[in-house]
Amino acid sequence: MLPWRSSPSLFGCCLFLAFAAVAAQLSAQDKNPFAGDAKAAKVGESQFRANCALSAQDKNPFAGDAKAAKIGESQFRANCAFCHGLGARGGGRGPDLTRVQKRHGNSDADLFRTINEGVPGTAMPPNGAMQQGVGMTEEEIWQVISYIRSVQAKAPAQIVGNAGHGKELFYGSAACSTCHMIQGKGGRLGPDLSTTGSARSTDYLVESVRSPSRRLAQGISEAMKEFSQEYETVTVVTLDGTKLLGVVLNEDDFTLQMLDTREQLHLFQKDKLRSLEKSRESLMPAYDQKTLSDKDLQDLIAYLLAVGVQ
Ligand code: HEC
Ligand code: HEC
Repeated sequence: MLPWRSSPSLFGCCLFLAFAAVAAQLSAQDKNPFAGDAKAAKVGESQFRANCALSAQDKNPFAGDAKAAKIGESQFRANCAFCHGLGARGGGRGPDLTRVQKRHGNSDADLFRTINEGVPGTAMPPNGAMQQGVGMTEEEIWQVISYIRSVQAKAPAQIVGNAGHGKELFYGSAACSTCHMIQGKGGRLGPDLSTTGSARSTDYLVESVRSPSRRLAQGISEAMKEFSQEYETVTVVTLDGTKLLGVVLNEDDFTLQMLDTREQLHLFQKDKLRSLEKSRESLMPAYDQKTLSDKDLQDLIAYLLAVGVQ
């Protein structure tokens, strides 16, 4: 994103800072001691962001403006619906934004910050990343926020289900913890589920448990790539005949990084393998009604939602 495209007021603020900086520097010395220094420029960029880009006002200037919400909706379709679903109700890649409970805060300023800066370490991109070109202007971000407000529920949803019982199932009879970690406890074959509750729609969570192979989870480390690595299942046979089953963590034309079902990490040169077979059949067992009743599933999801917003 080109920060100065954001708005005239930001431009003014930055211009002022630039002058102030220049004035301060002139009184010290005539030449920039960091001229051509890429690292200094980087530091300067974050200063610039902190002082200028974020000085946007705290309140949405379009609050309650139905026309702005309408414009925001088309921005949302173009930039956000891919992950957050139609109607902002969430999907396999991003949370339901109609929920009042939001992990990263639900004030106007919180939403602005999340949308502008993204959520580092997750698939939520900063403004201007991916295919968004130069990114949205400050005004456009506020219009998107107006749209989110227009579809947001009026009150915090009552979480149905018994989260306490869900936790017992997770670590107990449903055995989710043999493959999944929550807050540092559990297995590593499947994705860490500590924030999955707040990062996915409820429908998606149900589908993940009932029909895991329908949509495979996205690998977090790959989140920012356009085609992110999924948790594909892989079977390899090494030259000495050892057979390994696991999930793909990372892959390029020449190498494969995988985690096997005993949680051992392997890095293979593909041409040094006897065979390599990938499949979209999840390593997670499908839990049908007999193994896990609808009520127990509800309790498990209540648990995922409860830890998700912490
Ligand atoms: C590539 C997928 C992707 C795209 C595109 C995307 N998001 Fe997100 N977004 C996510 C994920 C994943 C999270 C959850 C991050 C986490 O784990 O905390 C998220 C979180 C958020 C949150 C915070 C929710 C909370 O509970 O606090 C907001 C608000 C949000 N996104 C708005 C947007 C808007 C508006 C756009 C479009 C301009 C957008 N996102 C584009 C994936 C995406
Ligand atoms: C044998 C290992 C194993 C067990 C047991 C297991 N899972 Fe999984 N799970 C995985 C793997 C591997 C994936 C990634 C592939 C996929 O999406 O199915 C996954 C994916 C998921 C996802 C999708 C996460 C995302 O970010 O998209 C959810 C939700 C989930 N599991 C919940 C559960 C719950 C709840 C239980 C217990 C009822 C459970 N899992 C039991 C291995 C397991």
